[in-house]
Amino acid sequence: MLDLIGNWKRTKYCGNVGIDDVGNEVILMGWVQSNRDHGGVIFIDLRDREGICQVVFNPEHNTETHKTAESVKDEWVIAVKGKVSNRTPETVNPNIKTGAIEIIVDEIKILNTSSVIPFLIEDEISVDELLRLKYRFLDLRRNTMKDNLVLRHKIASASRNFLNKEGFLEIETPYLTKSTPEGARDFIVPSRLNPGEFYALPQSPQILKQTLMVSGFDKYYQVVRCFRDEDLRADRQPEFTQIDLEMSFVDENDVMSTVEGMIKEIFKEAKGIELDMPFKRMSYHESMEKYGNDRPDTRFGLELQNISEIFRDSEFKVFREAVKKGGIIKALNLKGRGNDLSRKDIDDLTDEARTLGAKGLAWIKAQEKELQSPIIKFFSEDEIEKLKTQLNIEHGDIVFFGADTSYIVNMVLSNLRLKLAEKMGLVDHSSFELLWIVDFPLFDYDANDKRYVALHHPFTSPKDESIDKIETDTVNVLSKAYDIVLNGVEIGGGSIRIHRKDIQEKVFKTIGLSDEEANDKFDFLLNALDFGAPPHGGIALGLDRIVMLLTGSESIRDVIAFPKTQKGSCPLTAAPSEIGIEQVLELGLKIDKKTEENKDKND
Ligand code: AMO
Ligand code: AMP
Repeated sequence: MLDLIGNWKRTKYCGNVGIDDVGNEVILMGWVQSNRDHGGVIFIDLRDREGICQVVFNPEHNTETHKTAESVKDEWVIAVKGKVSNRTPETVNPNIKTGAIEIIVDEIKILNTSSVIPFLIEDEISVDELLRLKYRFLDLRRNTMKDNLVLRHKIASASRNFLNKEGFLEIETPYLTKSTPEGARDFIVPSRLNPGEFYALPQSPQILKQTLMVSGFDKYYQVVRCFRDEDLRADRQPEFTQIDLEMSFVDENDVMSTVEGMIKEIFKEAKGIELDMPFKRMSYHESMEKYGNDRPDTRFGLELQNISEIFRDSEFKVFREAVKKGGIIKALNLKGRGNDLSRKDIDDLTDEARTLGAKGLAWIKAQEKELQSPIIKFFSEDEIEKLKTQLNIEHGDIVFFGADTSYIVNMVLSNLRLKLAEKMGLVDHSSFELLWIVDFPLFDYDANDKRYVALHHPFTSPKDESIDKIETDTVNVLSKAYDIVLNGVEIGGGSIRIHRKDIQEKVFKTIGLSDEEANDKFDFLLNALDFGAPPHGGIALGLDRIVMLLTGSESIRDVIAFPKTQKGSCPLTAAPSEIGIEQVLELGLKIDKKTEENKDKND
């Protein structure tokens, strides 16, 4: 039989009762974590958001309450009234906040029962993630998940506090809007009032925040949801949150130092860590050369070396041909650990390289007397000597090689670098390495489409000294863009924008966007730029990724209350789902059965 809460008022959170409360009467309310009967005396661990408190039912103290407590099961919701008392020394539990005290219960109310739970409410559970997501309301009762969301709140509020203090205004921008320039696929929403027309959910507030600068708001921020219909990974969700900001009359250093201040505050508030400022900077070029990507994990060395020159005219066809075709050869020396990798390990790494598009993964092990390798027979004495010198090859080392287009080599070796570092325990998981990547090229050449594309988005400004090169030396135009990387994850990116129409037009022309297309896509921003746009720039930080890294979570799904699966669905709400025929008609839509069939085929 359930009790009514009546006039009972909770006096404390379970997790906050302490020594100072001894002797006081408290009323606690929460969930039954466990119910143990120790020779007649019943101990219930009562749980709420703040933690667990042991509540005790002694039949000699109160027969009736004890009897009620006997019936109570895990995850029932109860309220207890009783006196806080010291535990006897041998029963003190130093592992929990409230471990020195317990509540001697005088009265109990059963506020609700619970069905049998599909998994235990414990920190570490090995349960299929789909089940956790279906019962997310239970999953979120677990400490690990709760702590993640509490830290998320702290990080978001530390950012807000910092930006408020710096004079930023929080301004909302619409979710029902038009396509934005981030380059992923849009989620679209049909308009009932305008049949056949669609809103796009914003991939970011990019255009609107720039418009706010034209309006003179000077400093804007928003903790804002963004929507991108792209293939999902551990650090990607279709809807995710950005700490988005934009500032007027600033250069790159102004935006970067604002972000450094904010991240410093986040680390201090959320982790109690004092970061050194300014953060390190590395050029895009150096990052690509040494790490093979633009988000290097600099918690360990294991840098890549470009050895193309040594093998330009080599006997070894694979290497020679790669250079001849305009590609590169890079190597990575895993110092002193050659004997830690078995033939099978090397085969597995080679298979993985192949799945990423490599044609193979050549290697050399430096044994005591000789170099051991399937390819060494193709190398000349001179090549071996040069290789030994450049890579500092010593006894015990193992060196891996990639020879292909720079895109493939960098992708394969940067991936191998991370794999090896994890496998060999080279990563210090307690450290946080923050790094700015700067001096990005403005354009990237898309070999498939045979045209230039904007490496960031097309509103990114070229560096002043590069403006004249846009038409004549396009590949070497540098931009005023910056990314911020934490432990090898891109946690943010932004740029100083183009605020002059003549430069904007040049950039559109270079990426093959006709005036008509540009107007169609970004009409109102281009229009706004005509009406006294101030110099401006900004950045967006990925809140989910920051929380993921600061909580040590493996996936951003673990720091989002209600995330989507890798397939973009929500097992809790069963979204996405079909809609009724009335809704289809009302929206002026037609469901194409063929598409439905294709969808099944693709699944
Ligand atoms: P960008 O596209 O680089 O820039 O996004 C900024 C940051 O948002 C995070 N992020 C994501 N997080 C989770 N899931 C995703 N699918 C996802 N996509 C991006 C990343 C990334 O660094 N408007 C520009 C910013 C600007 O120029 O001011 C923008 O959106 O951490
Ligand atoms: P092969 O001549 O194809 O038998 O390859 C000889 C060795 O070179 C093998 O260890 C391959 O894994 C490696 N290899 C082949 N192609 C490449 C490549 N493009 N880059 C790096 N290593 C390669």
